[in-house]
Amino acid sequence: MLRSKLKVLALVPVLALAVAAAGCGKSDTPSGGTTPGAADAPQLLNAGKLTTCTGLPYEPFQFEKDGKVIGFDVELVDLVAKKLNVTQEIVDTPFDGIQSGVDLNSGKCDLAAAGMTITETRKQNFDFSDPYFDATQALVSKKGSGVTDLASLKGKKLAVQNGTTGDEYAKKNAPDVELVTFEDLGLLLNAVETGAVDAGINDNGVLYDWAKKKTDYEVVKEFDTGEQYGIGVKKGNDKLLKVINDTLKEAKSSGEYDKIYEKWFGKKPSK
Ligand code: ARG
Repeated sequence: MLRSKLKVLALVPVLALAVAAAGCGKSDTPSGGTTPGAADAPQLLNAGKLTTCTGLPYEPFQFEKDGKVIGFDVELVDLVAKKLNVTQEIVDTPFDGIQSGVDLNSGKCDLAAAGMTITETRKQNFDFSDPYFDATQALVSKKGSGVTDLASLKGKKLAVQNGTTGDEYAKKNAPDVELVTFEDLGLLLNAVETGAVDAGINDNGVLYDWAKKKTDYEVVKEFDTGEQYGIGVKKGNDKLLKVINDTLKEAKSSGEYDKIYEKWFGKKPSK
């Protein structure tokens, strides 16, 4: 058992060398675009795999359906994986460890794609790709609840997701509101639905998506926080960052980005 495993492991570097030697810079890919040559190829944690950290569920960016993780971010990262000739493998982990940089720095994953806002604090702990999506904070509540904004929540309960920009926004702007912290968006929305809290704060994209299905609930307010999502990599992983940025750029100019956007949001991106 142990021996055969060792054998397989021992084979890997030999194979990698052979591939690098044979590749000598360029390799042909079936689907157009440029594939990084051997010298520019980023080092991946697991051979043949692009390991992604994300925090589920975050529909429609990443969520599980019929045992598969799907969504907008998942498809964008699939394009990156395709460019690298590998497959994406997703690791579901609490968002707080993603946004703090702990997961990237401890080598849990090659990149983080989690509907994650680019912020100054986060930029100190890891590197972000170019922005790929615009977002803003929003408030969701039961229809007819009388909740219209943060002021109307005075003395009431507001659900926040741990470590998110919504969490931070509420801490700053809702001093008279009792904040109830949840580890993920699923638990947060569940609390809104059971009435355990009076409202929930999170990004507009996910809340509109939820309220579309849960018609007793509505997005009552958007706060103009002007956020942009980026894909995170460990600080200094410039090779992977370049592949991600090249992929995003190519997807935008080829129309692939718009196609994926329309699939998950039901309309074309504005601008
Ligand atoms: N955009 C917000 C942030 O960066 C929320 C992201 C939450 N993402 C998730 N996959 N749970 O803080």
